[in-house]
Amino acid sequence: MTNKQFGPTGWTPDLLEPLAGKTYVITGANGGAGFEASRLLLSKGARVVMMNRSVEKSEAAISRLKTEFGPATDVSFVRMDLAVLASVREAASELLAQTPKIDALICNAAIAQVARQEITVDGFESQLGVNHFGHFLLCGLLFDRIEQSNGRIIVVGSNAYKMGLKRIRFEDSNFDTQYTAWNAYAQSKLAQMMFAYELQRRIAAYGRSVRVQVCHPGASRTNLLNDTASPLNKIIWAILSRLIAQSAEKGAWPEVMCATRDGLGEPRLYGPTRRAQTVGPVDACPLDACALDQQQAAQLWSLSEAATGLHWKV
Ligand SMILES: NC(=O)c1ccc[n+]([C@@H]2O[C@H](COP(=O)([O-])OP(=O)(O)OC[C@H]3O[C@@H](n4cnc5c(N)ncnc54)[C@H](OP(=O)(O)O)[C@@H]3O)[C@@H](O)[C@H]2O)c1
Repeated sequence: MTNKQFGPTGWTPDLLEPLAGKTYVITGANGGAGFEASRLLLSKGARVVMMNRSVEKSEAAISRLKTEFGPATDVSFVRMDLAVLASVREAASELLAQTPKIDALICNAAIAQVARQEITVDGFESQLGVNHFGHFLLCGLLFDRIEQSNGRIIVVGSNAYKMGLKRIRFEDSNFDTQYTAWNAYAQSKLAQMMFAYELQRRIAAYGRSVRVQVCHPGASRTNLLNDTASPLNKIIWAILSRLIAQSAEKGAWPEVMCATRDGLGEPRLYGPTRRAQTVGPVDACPLDACALDQQQAAQLWSLSEAATGLHWKV
């Protein structure tokens, strides 16, 4: 399960081939790992379409990228709020109308460690709603276009998947009782990963051709806790991240690798491999069995279809 493919230095952007003619769609790319992934892909001549919730931040990010790579750089954005299913549907239609080819959809956006329970307009605990249900719907709506492009789906997970309850709380997935920021975030990242491995199995069973890869950025200095975490967690992370975390750019390497590299395995989890998979060479990481629970994954798929109204027969 943890066979290394890339030797002692792991995968690095030096291994990237030219990407002219390729189109990458990335959620939550105005900052953090998503922005750095966009930079790397653009540096090799790819087209990047960001799917972001903030117009202002998107325009600022695009302006920075055009300053760095030149005004003709092919980077744009579609406005999408993953917390609102109607927005995901609208954004998917807009994207499909303007993007004939999707070489990879990178499900990167997330919120984390939301201090108190928040419920989305569609009625979901906010981390489960944004991180999982929003992406489930987006993946389903873009799936055929990705398949026609011989493309792939990348799900950005987190080591948190194995640090919470290690299961989906089907009896109370919104944490109406016993809400904790950590357990609700961990559930949402486990849900994303369980979904990805279930999608791999369904694609194999039904003879579809989309590849699905799962990765995580380790511990990276991004904006992840800035808006959502409790003041105490923000202080702890501000100190800890200086000591234990790597740059946002390195945090982007696993998702860029998964989006571009052929010959990756399934089911696998790719990310930094040292110090409890927080930093270090990017390669295959140990994968806890909780992400591969097929009974829970099937139940989660049904829940996700009911929650999003998308009847997705892969
Ligand atoms: N940083 C780490 O140490 C770490 C560790 C484990 C896993 N991860 C994972 O890495 C991925 C990237 O996160 P990051 O660390 O780069 O954090 P980040 O800097 O906070 O980036 C997250 C992105 O998601 C976007 N986003 C949040 N809510 C959204 C919504 N409702 N609709 C659309 N976009 C939304 C944010 O947009 P706004 O700017 O508008 O908020 C931002 O662009 C996430 O999946 C996260 O779970 C990170």
